Amino acid sequence: MSDKVVLIPGDGIGPSISDSVVRVLDAAGAGIDWETRHAGAETLSSHGDTLPEATLEAVRSAGVALKGPITTPVGKGFASVNVRLRKALDLYANLRPVESLPNVKTCHNDVDLVVVRENTEGLYSGIEHEVIPGVVESLKIMTRSACTRICRFAFEYAKRRGRAKVTAVHKANIMKLADGLFLDCFHEVAADYPGIEATDSIVDAACMRLVMNPHQFDVVVMENLYGDILSDLCAGLVGGLGVTPGANIGDRVAVFEAVHGSAPDIAGKNLANPTALLCSSVLMLRHLGKDEVADRVMGAIRRTLSDGIRTRDLGGTASTSEYTEAVVARL
Ligand code: NAI
Repeated sequence: MSDKVVLIPGDGIGPSISDSVVRVLDAAGAGIDWETRHAGAETLSSHGDTLPEATLEAVRSAGVALKGPITTPVGKGFASVNVRLRKALDLYANLRPVESLPNVKTCHNDVDLVVVRENTEGLYSGIEHEVIPGVVESLKIMTRSACTRICRFAFEYAKRRGRAKVTAVHKANIMKLADGLFLDCFHEVAADYPGIEATDSIVDAACMRLVMNPHQFDVVVMENLYGDILSDLCAGLVGGLGVTPGANIGDRVAVFEAVHGSAPDIAGKNLANPTALLCSSVLMLRHLGKDEVADRVMGAIRRTLSDGIRTRDLGGTASTSEYTEAVVARL
């Protein structure tokens, strides 16, 4: 059966890597009925908005979207499309699986962990004010409902994906109320999952442990700011943003995306690496319950890299289209 997915190609290299994903998933027989909608710098001139209401409505109605990177126009008054999507669709969980790929040189081999970040509150609530000149206050908002919801998301993900351990990352030794609440919620939720080991780690120690030995982690869950930092740290463990997939997920809608930007320096040159968006599409296929085709696509990506076919950013010579065809040939 075909599943409808809204495709938002985005700006810069977005259309090129989106074409690559459509080519690979169609060749794999993934059964995706693509509905292309636009957002980004281009739609600002055509629709007067970086996120037209029609695009938002299409995503809301389909429930699943795949999004390319979006250029945030320079100048004041342009809220990031990504932040607007998260808020409008209540995409409260940011999911970033971090997995080593063949022939991508890094400090550690066989890294396989998942970062789950709370997307809606914490210090990112953006509530700040100047108390008196030279003194500002920035509020960290933590609620029992959001902490519980993200911890439950992490444990449910671990259960569905057969993962053995969930670690809460926090700073409850200093922020006793805010992070203390997060930790309390974590342990309350953990009690409902006796088959999954629940541990916690103070954020600074967690960073050191991740860099020294990432294999001791499985699923890690945390509030917004720590998640922002640790998700990029973890991407660095496996080769950076060019190979790391991501998703923003809510109860009704999920948006899958590459986490890198629109790379204007190489846009239109057939040089972009589509791996990150391809891996995000694999996550999307799993979300749609299409595990068999997801395994096939991921296997083809891994074999392409193992065979030494890589784009320029990874030290290879393949163009976007050559790399894409190499993946298709290995499906
Ligand atoms: P960037 O990620 O676009 O580029 C940084 C460097 O990495 C560049 O040298 C670029 O060529 C390279 N690169 C990135 N993705 C690549 C890929 N798939 N293949 C090969 N090389 C790749 O970051 P930058 O330059 O800071 O941002 C450019 C624009 O993208 C900005 O407008 C920014 O706001 C936006 N952006 C959008 C994001 C999103 O939509 N999720 C995330 C980050 C930035």
